[in-house]
Amino acid sequence: MTIELRPLTAADAEAHCAGEDALTVRWLTGGYGDVDGTIEYFKWLATNAAAGTGKRGFGIWKPGRLCGYVDYDPDLDDGIEPQDVALSYAVHPWARGQGVAVEAVRLVCEVLLADGIGTRAAIRVEPENSASVRVAQKAGFRYIRDFSSNRDAHPDGTPVTFSLYLLDL
Ligand SMILES: CC(C)(COP(=O)(O)OP(=O)(O)OC[C@H]1O[C@@H](n2cnc3c(N)ncnc32)[C@H](O)[C@@H]1OP(=O)(O)O)[C@@H](O)C(=O)NCCC(=O)NCCS
Repeated sequence: MTIELRPLTAADAEAHCAGEDALTVRWLTGGYGDVDGTIEYFKWLATNAAAGTGKRGFGIWKPGRLCGYVDYDPDLDDGIEPQDVALSYAVHPWARGQGVAVEAVRLVCEVLLADGIGTRAAIRVEPENSASVRVAQKAGFRYIRDFSSNRDAHPDGTPVTFSLYLLDL
């Protein structure tokens, strides 16, 4: 599996948006992005990277083609301890089922370790999202517990239940 993590720029916004599908919306974003909003989001990520604070996001590239997105957020505290760093990811539909997400998680954990950010990586996943549960397991994370989110709710107002998986960095 040859993939690379690189910062995202305005030139990647269209491909990023084109890589979203119903599963991305259901399990991660809550809605489809548009190119202008995505460019603003990438600028915000670049500002964080320059300042060395907050959420950092990366594009996942297979040779010559953007195939996904991964980020870490040291400030997210819903269901995790202050030293835990939450990861999120999505892989474009055409690139799924090839181990891209597991490798991207491994690479982003290397970034956390190299930059001394946090002591544990955290994956918070809805238990019904079996593909993402598999990613956590295959990346070596251990199941800790299920918890009710203080931050995310279903359309009917009930809190989202997440399973927490952790990996020591
Ligand atoms: C979850 C997600 C990132 C996994 O990405 P991926 O690169 O396909 O992951 P992997 O290739 O490592 O596969 C993980 C598991 O997904 C399953 N899977 C999901 N879609 C698949 C597909 N189209 N083809 C084959 N396997 C698929 C496989 O069962 C696999 O487990 P296995 O290797 O034990 O059979 C991807 O499905 C996705 O983008 N989903 C929408 C966003 C999302 O759920 N993000 C996570 C929020 S917590």
